[in-house]
Parts: sequence; C-alpha cells; structure tokens
Amino acid sequence: MKSPRLLQFAHDDPAAIRDELFGGFSASTAAIPPKYFYDALGSRLFSAITELPEYYPTRTEAAIFARNVGQMAEVLGPVSTLVDLGAGNCEKAASLFASFKVQRYVAVDISASYLRDSLECLQRKHPAMDMLGIGLDFSQTLNLPAEVGDGPRTLFYPGSSIGNFTPAEALAFLRQVHAACQGGALLIGVDLVKPTAMLELAYDDPLGVTAAFNRNMLRHLNALVGSDFDIADWRHIAFFNTAASRIEMHLEAVGETVLHWPAGERRFAPGERIHTENSYKWRTADFAGLLEQAGFSRLQYWTDENAWFAVFVAFS
Ligand code: AVI
Repeated sequence: MKSPRLLQFAHDDPAAIRDELFGGFSASTAAIPPKYFYDALGSRLFSAITELPEYYPTRTEAAIFARNVGQMAEVLGPVSTLVDLGAGNCEKAASLFASFKVQRYVAVDISASYLRDSLECLQRKHPAMDMLGIGLDFSQTLNLPAEVGDGPRTLFYPGSSIGNFTPAEALAFLRQVHAACQGGALLIGVDLVKPTAMLELAYDDPLGVTAAFNRNMLRHLNALVGSDFDIADWRHIAFFNTAASRIEMHLEAVGETVLHWPAGERRFAPGERIHTENSYKWRTADFAGLLEQAGFSRLQYWTDENAWFAVFVAFS
C-alpha cells in the first residue's frame, strides 16, 4: 500500500497576523478576514452549520453531484490529478474518485496535519492511489508546488467558498486557478441569488449556531494576539445586501465597549460593528462571465430543481 505524502508550507508569521488584525481593529469600519473563524472550535461549528436545515448550500450541492456525477465524468474524461482546494475531511472529493477514475489525489488545506488522518484513512480504501497533502494558505496566492506534478489537473473548489471573495478578488483567484490547471479543468460550486428571507435564515439560524460561529472568532483573536474581547458584549448580525448581492456578517457592540490589545485600544459605540464575512450570491450568467474573463472556456453547469446552487465545469 502507498502512503500519503505531506508537505507544509509556511503559515503567516505572527508579526504579519498582528499587523493584519491590529489594522482591522483600528480601521474606521473595523473588519477581520473570515479565515480567523477557523480555530478548532470554529471548524466544528462550521461543520455543525452544514447540518442545519436552514443552511441549504452543502446539502444542495451534494444532491447536484449525486444526480449528475455521471455526466460530469463524461464531460471531464478520466481525471489523472484531482487537486482539492480547502479539502478539510476530504469527503466531498473522495465521493468522486470512482466516477472520475482519479489516479492521483492532492488535498490542499491550511494545515497538512489536519489532513493526515483523513488521507491515511482514504489511502486504506484506495491503496494504489497516489495521495499528497499540502498545507498552504492559498487565500492570497495560489502557488502549487512542483510535487503536484506535470500534466493537466482538475482543480476542485466546492462549497461556494468562492463566494467569500469579492468579485474582483474572485477574478484574480480564478486567474491563478486557470494557470494552475495546466490545460486541465475546474470543478466549482457556486451559491446562487435567491429570496432574501431564505438567505438570511441560512446565515442567522434560530438555533444560534451561526451566531456562535461568528462570535467564536473573538475568542480565537484573543488567543492569537492577546486582545480582550468579551463575547457577551457582541451580537451576531447577518443580512443580505441586495445591491452588492452578498450576505454580510458583522459583530455588533451591544453597549459602549473598549477593546484593548497589546499597544492599542479602541472604543466602540453601541451598535458599532466589526465586519467579519461576505458571502456573495451569484447569477449563473454572471459567474459564467467571470470564468470566461479568467480565461476558462467550454463551460457547463448543473443546478438543483430550485436553482439554489450551481456546479460548473470549465476548461483552461
Ligand atoms: C465557507 N463559506 C462558503 C461559508 C459561506 O456560506 O459563506 C461560511 C459560512 N458563514 C456562515 N455560514 C457559513
């Protein structure tokens, strides 16, 4: 049996994290990038979100794959290398291995050690498959190492993670994905515009799991940089900004509160907010245009019967 190889590329250094966060605390509209949601508890809370009845994207995307995987496999042809961006527990990609005849699986996530257990378990089920786990933060720059190998690659970017980029950032990212495909293809999941009430319920569920996910970021920040957020001072806000076609998540100061961090402080008035996430909702025609602008062609997409979510294949 083969064994998975693991490679870890440098995490952001502590000084860069401090600069980013202290800059975010001090900005006139305070803002913290969504990657800081994901400490160990944040990752578990996200996983719980995906099981909520109100959070339709995960379920809907899975149903699109279940129904159309055969057609997708025909369009893609045999996949020599599947590169899974943001692989997590690797389950979504693993469910495609047989239909896509995957020969080599490359799982990319922020930390290679998160990938170890999932890859070892997958390797037992697929003893002849080449498996590589790469720890890399690709949110700024997608720079895949030479170990991924030559030849065309199919890049897999499910879950509408592309929605957490602004359209300009998404275009820049897709251009890098286009180059990384090396003549292969992209398989990507995209959340679509739908009625506001449904969107807002998905991001402000009655059980309060998304609120916990949002507020947990503050505990993560305290642990990372020694700030003194008190979670009780902040409430979860989520709304659909129709003009920008995005869900916005914020943390809102309940009363007047003073935040301290090493060598700095900031007073927040009641109702003042920290912007923590955007989740863009696309129209299929606009997303197709974005893929074409990034250099992709021969686009095809599949949706569910309600057109809530889409999965695109595009060739580089
Ligand atoms: C990871 N990302 C695609 C999720 C989303 O829907 O934008 C993150 C999330 N935020 C709140 N709920 C889920």
